[in-house]
Amino acid sequence: MKIAMIGTGYVGLVSGVCFSDFGHEVICVDKNQEKLTKLRAGETPIFEPGLDTLMARNIAANRLSFTDDLKSATQDADAVFIAVGTPSRRGDGHADLSFVFGAVKEVAEALTRPTVIVIKSTVPVGTNQKVADLLKETRPDLDCDVVSNPEFLREGAAIDDFMHPDRVVVGVQSDRGDEVMQEVYRPLSLRGYPVLTTDLETAEMIKYAANAFLATKVTFINEIAMLCERTGADVKDVANGMGFDSRIGPKFLQAGPGYGGSCFPKDTKALARIGQDNAVPLQIVETVIKVNEEVKRLMIDKIVDLCDEKLRDKTIAVLGLTFKPDTDDMRDAPALTVVPALVGMGANVRVVDPQAFREADALLPNVTWFEDAYEAVDGADAVVLLTEWNEFRALDLRDMAGRMASARMADLRNMYSCDYALDAGFEAYTGMGRKSALLFDS
Ligand SMILES: NC(=O)c1ccc[n+]([C@@H]2O[C@H](COP(=O)([O-])OP(=O)(O)OC[C@H]3O[C@@H](n4cnc5c(N)ncnc54)[C@H](O)[C@@H]3O)[C@@H](O)[C@H]2O)c1
Repeated sequence: MKIAMIGTGYVGLVSGVCFSDFGHEVICVDKNQEKLTKLRAGETPIFEPGLDTLMARNIAANRLSFTDDLKSATQDADAVFIAVGTPSRRGDGHADLSFVFGAVKEVAEALTRPTVIVIKSTVPVGTNQKVADLLKETRPDLDCDVVSNPEFLREGAAIDDFMHPDRVVVGVQSDRGDEVMQEVYRPLSLRGYPVLTTDLETAEMIKYAANAFLATKVTFINEIAMLCERTGADVKDVANGMGFDSRIGPKFLQAGPGYGGSCFPKDTKALARIGQDNAVPLQIVETVIKVNEEVKRLMIDKIVDLCDEKLRDKTIAVLGLTFKPDTDDMRDAPALTVVPALVGMGANVRVVDPQAFREADALLPNVTWFEDAYEAVDGADAVVLLTEWNEFRALDLRDMAGRMASARMADLRNMYSCDYALDAGFEAYTGMGRKSALLFDS
C-alpha cells in the first residue's frame, strides 16, 4: 500500500517508519526544514530507542522517504494519515485543531483522486465529522473517506508499542475506509493483535477516555502517597498490594512528581472541556487536573523542607529533567515547574539529563548543565532525583554523599529508600509516600 504521513513528529515518524517496516511504501511529509534535513541525512530528530536502526533499514529498502512536497506525496496514496500536533489552545484548554484542519485543507487541495484520510492525531469527539465536512466543502468533486485511528504508543517504548499494540482502534464511516485500514494493519491482525472497528465518535472518545483513566490512576496513587506520609504507611508496598489484584494491575501505580509529557496534561484538559461543552462536567477528570498541579507544587515544598526552608545560595543538583526516561521530550515535564521555582528562590541549580539538553536548554535558563551525576553533586547541598533514567537507578550513594557539602536527597521517584540512603551516609532523605528523615524532624 502507498501511505502518505502528514506530520513527522513523534507519532508521525514512528508510525511512518513502522508502516514501512510492515512493507508499505511510506512518504513522510513535514514543513519543518530542519527536521527534514536531518531525516534525509538518515538522522532521527527525536530520541527514541530503536528508531534510528529501523529507519535506516527501511530507507535502504526504498520504502521510506521524507519530503515537504505534500502534493506529490499524496497523489498516489491509498491512505493519507494526518499526525500533526493538537496542543492545548492557549487560555481555555481546548485542543487546538488548527494544525489538523490546516493539513486537511492542504491535502484536499492537492488530491487528484478520492482517497482515505486517516486522522491519527488525538482530536475531540466530532472532529472527524468536521474533517469530512471540510473535505466535501473544499473538494465537492472528490468522494473521500475519513477514518479515525488514534495512536496509543508511549514515548520511550514507541516502536515496541506500535509493533506489539494492546489494540488498534479504527473508527470508520464507510466500507472503503474499513477495507483500506484492514489492509494497512493486516501485518498486525495476522499476528493476532486486536483491531477494534467502531464509528468515528467512539474511536475519538476511546483515546481521551484511556488517557484520562491512566492520568487518574497516576494521580490516585500520588494522593495516596501523601496520605501514606502522614500515616506512616509505605506507598510502594501499598501500590504492590493493590497491583497484584488483577482487577487493578500494577502499571501506572508508581508515586512520583505528577504526570507530564505531550499527552496526559493536554488530553485531560481537552476532555474536561468536551464534558463542559456537552453539559456533562467530568468531575473526576477536573479533579485529577487540579490534584496533579498540586502534586507538582508539593515537590517544591519537599525540597524546601529538605533544605530547612533555606534555598537562597544553596547548590541543588537535579538528576533527570524529561517527563520520563528514554525520551528527550520536555513537554509539560514536572521539571519545568520544579526547577524554575528552585532558581526563583535563589538556589544555584545544576542539572543532569542524558537526553534533555536540546529541548530543555532554552526552557530552563539560569541553570548549570553537567554530564555526570557525581560531578553535579560535588559540593552540593542537596540532590533531587526527578526522572528515573536507568543511569540514576544504581548510583554509588556513598560516593555521592562523600562529595556533597551536605548530603540530602529528595528521591521523587522512590528509586532508593530512607534506610538505604542513610546507610550510605546521607544525613537527610525524603521520598514519595514513605519514610523520610528530615534534619529538623530529629
Ligand atoms: N507524542 C506522543 O507520545 C503521542 C502519543 C499518542 C498520540 N499522540 C498524538 O499525536 C499527535 C501528534 O503528536 P506528536 O507528539 O507526534 O506531535 P509533534 O508536535 O511532535 O509533531 C507534529 C509535526 O507535524 C508537523 N506539521 C504540522 N502541520 C503540518 C502540515 N500542515 N504539514 C506537514 N507537517 C505539519 C510539525 O512540523 C511537526 O513536526 C497529537 O495529536 C498527539 O496528541 C501523541
